[in-house]
Amino acid sequence: MARGDLRRFHRDPLGFLEDLSRRRSTDVFPLPWGGWCAGDTDAALTVLRAPEFNAGLSTFYGSLLPSRAAQIEVGHGVRNLIRARLPEYRDNLAEAVPRLPAAGRWPETGTALVYECTADLLLHPAAAPELRRLLARSVRAGLLIRSPLIRERARAEILRVRLLAALIRHIGQRRNEGVDPSGPYDLLDAILDACPPETTDDAVAELYVLLFRSIVGNVGYAVAWTVLLAGLHHAPSTPGAPWPWPTDWIVREAARHRPFVWMVGRPVPHPMQFGGVALRPGEIVSVSPYLLHHDERHWRRPDAFDPERWADPGARGPYLPFSAGPFICAGAAVAQTMATDAVAALAADTRLTVLGGHTRPMVTNAVAPRPFTLSRTTELLTRSHAPERR
Ligand code: HEM
Repeated sequence: MARGDLRRFHRDPLGFLEDLSRRRSTDVFPLPWGGWCAGDTDAALTVLRAPEFNAGLSTFYGSLLPSRAAQIEVGHGVRNLIRARLPEYRDNLAEAVPRLPAAGRWPETGTALVYECTADLLLHPAAAPELRRLLARSVRAGLLIRSPLIRERARAEILRVRLLAALIRHIGQRRNEGVDPSGPYDLLDAILDACPPETTDDAVAELYVLLFRSIVGNVGYAVAWTVLLAGLHHAPSTPGAPWPWPTDWIVREAARHRPFVWMVGRPVPHPMQFGGVALRPGEIVSVSPYLLHHDERHWRRPDAFDPERWADPGARGPYLPFSAGPFICAGAAVAQTMATDAVAALAADTRLTVLGGHTRPMVTNAVAPRPFTLSRTTELLTRSHAPERR
């Protein structure tokens, strides 16, 4: 990438991408770091939905599983586990939120909260205490998202290697014991149950880390974006009503305004003309949920954070925080519920104030909020003052 482009990209990655798309002369345009991006919304939806771009294996799992059927089985197994444990997650939120400090550092408080409330689902309490400690440390020490700092990336990599080694040791034990259908059942059991028996312990460990990140990282950052954007766009006035919108609307609007996954890619299967350019096999065509969510032809005032738009189904364009088509996120519905429940628990009977936050994100492999403080003041409310939050 040319030095000027690199500087502009570092300053404002999403603005840089928008600018490239605005200046494009074809529906698909080249990315300065290689590959292509579908700038036109219809072309982007074709990339996500057309069988020719979506045959074979999903890139989410890389080469960890041997078939599409196995990938689907693992995704559904994990999704079903989370869905069954949502009541326990809600109970955990009700206990954990009041223990949060009056002023917390975010986004790390968001990921720590989601981890705390899913810890027993991720690894059952009686299992391997050292592994549990490493998982908790991974959440704090940057394993969930790629840091822009080389030193922190190196530290996260060391931790990842230790975590994988501890997981592999524990997977060996679990496999010897077999999954007890009446006993505690956690993320590792769900993966072991769903993946083909010949899957190696190393691959199971990698799958575990991949899904651990999706659950704790993706949901935790979605919660962080929601409280930040809602807090920045509405000053608290009514006691016990931090925002004048239903929680579900603000979670959806935050994921539209700042989708955590900003690019998904599909390999080109064979030489083809598409979107006005010649594509070669193996090249990657990316789709940016961010670009689609900010397309003025499909969204009214796309740059505004406006939860009200969710009141009117006719006011929405293509909405893809979880992607679309055959490889859409397997956990989309449970993730939306988890994020909404966490935000509702944080907002219940509380005045929330954002300090030092702004909408410019930190962009690496995902789009994360920059550090901010969220202050929570508990209000002594009578029920008649308490608004409906869901
Ligand atoms: C807010 C939270 C989440 C976001 C924003 C998110 C987003 C995404 C995105 C964009 C993809 C890529 C799809 C593609 O390549 O087109 C994906 C894939 C996937 N996600 Fe999520 N995700 C979230 C939470 C979860 C959770 C909680 C689970 C747990 C079940 C999960 C499981 C998966 C799986 C299994 C895939 C691969 C699907 C496949 O290829 O079959 N995700 N997710």
